[in-house]
Parts: sequence; C-alpha cells; structure tokens
Amino acid sequence: MNVVFVGPDGSLREEAATPGERLLDVAQRAGQPLEGTCGGDLACATCHVIVDAADFDRLSPAREEEEDMLDLVPDARRTSRLACQVRLDAALGKLTVRLP
Ligand code: FES
Repeated sequence: MNVVFVGPDGSLREEAATPGERLLDVAQRAGQPLEGTCGGDLACATCHVIVDAADFDRLSPAREEEEDMLDLVPDARRTSRLACQVRLDAALGKLTVRLP
C-alpha cells in the first residue's frame, strides 16, 4: 500500500508502506516534519495529521485516549488523527493525509 503526504506547502510525497506499520513511521521515513516526540505514548500530539475525508472512515476508529489527546490539539479537524496510533493495513490501498 502507499501513503500520499500533502505537506503544509501543498507538496506531494508518496511513500510505500508495509501492512502493520504505523503511519508515524512511514511519515518519518518519507522525511515528513512529524516529530513524534513521545514515540507513540499518546503524550505529545506532535504526530497530528489530517486524514483525507474520503479515507477517514476506512481507518480503524481512534480509541478514547487518542480522542482525548486530539481534544488538546488547537488545529484539530473532524478527520484528525495521531499518526502514532494509526496502523496501516493492506486493504487501505492508498491513504492520503495532510500535515497541518
Ligand atoms: Fe506522541 Fe503520537 S508520537 S502522541
């Protein structure tokens, strides 16, 4: 499967991903500016991404702990996710996410 990253400046970068990988790891491999400071412990929200509306419902839903952390993100949208909590699966095919 592939992930398309839309940068803050509108630039596009497509990166191949292995099923089971975290979206955060794919983003960092693709050189995207996602810090992921806490390493996935749901303590920083520096891995915030905005998922394309057409793709959002195809992801496994966020757990309550992720929703609570997203509530603290000032520029969060309806389709926001924390990339450290998103596991990619082959059925997704292609996923498009925007970096805030
Ligand atoms: Fe800290 Fe995702 S890396 S919440």
